[in-house]
Amino acid sequence: MAKDVIVACDFPSMERTLDFLDLFEGKRKPFVKIGMELFYAEGPDVVRKIKERGHKVFLDLKLHDIPNTVAGGMRSLAGLGVDMTNVHASGGIKMMKAGLEGLTSGGQSAADQVNSAPVLIAVTQLTSTSQEMLAEELLIDKDINDVIVKYALNAKAAGLGGVVCSPLEAGLIHEACGSDFLTVTPGIRFSDSTSDDQARITTPAKARELGSDYIVIGRPVTQAEDPVEAYMRAVSDFLG
Ligand code: C5P
Repeated sequence: MAKDVIVACDFPSMERTLDFLDLFEGKRKPFVKIGMELFYAEGPDVVRKIKERGHKVFLDLKLHDIPNTVAGGMRSLAGLGVDMTNVHASGGIKMMKAGLEGLTSGGQSAADQVNSAPVLIAVTQLTSTSQEMLAEELLIDKDINDVIVKYALNAKAAGLGGVVCSPLEAGLIHEACGSDFLTVTPGIRFSDSTSDDQARITTPAKARELGSDYIVIGRPVTQAEDPVEAYMRAVSDFLG
């Protein structure tokens, strides 16, 4: 898949989400990220509705269970025609392989099969995990960056297409896993927008410079006075 800007649609309902996407009628259609809040509130129908409108969908559910269960979950998601979805790398290589098999094992409808195969990516360490928490709660005493790179290498060994990471880690990941291994990076802010609750932020242009393959941007677009303008600004800053 080519580089792109993914808009995090962190809305609590299908209605609010579709109202937001209505703004893009007849314009460039954003690649949309749907997270747990919306998916658990509205169910698979929200994915079908957004796909029907011609958007690509990254379904951010971060699966983590025994391999057989993750494979089954991924088969169901493949049936929805998602373009990108994810698992926790801490579930291990076997679990990631099983997830990939589930996602690519023909659960897609005939219409979806003409689209490119869905991409499975991994979460290495959540950005809410600190070095102290790794050591004290999880008894992992390695450097957090070494853990992130090792988990990314595990994801690559399992055949996954990439990882979610900070743009600041994109170089490290590409160095270890190769330039084709996708880095999908949240924590994006315009130079003149507020940081909200994001700690380490990067502009779209800086993310491009650092080698991000996909940027994930939410509130600077969804809460903007003119969301279409804000989205197009992110697109032109990131894609050039
Ligand atoms: O509104 P904002 O641009 O901060 O949204 C970023 C999106 O990316 C949210 O959906 C958030 O949950 C997600 N995300 C993140 N940091 C991670 C993983 C996911 O901000 N490490």
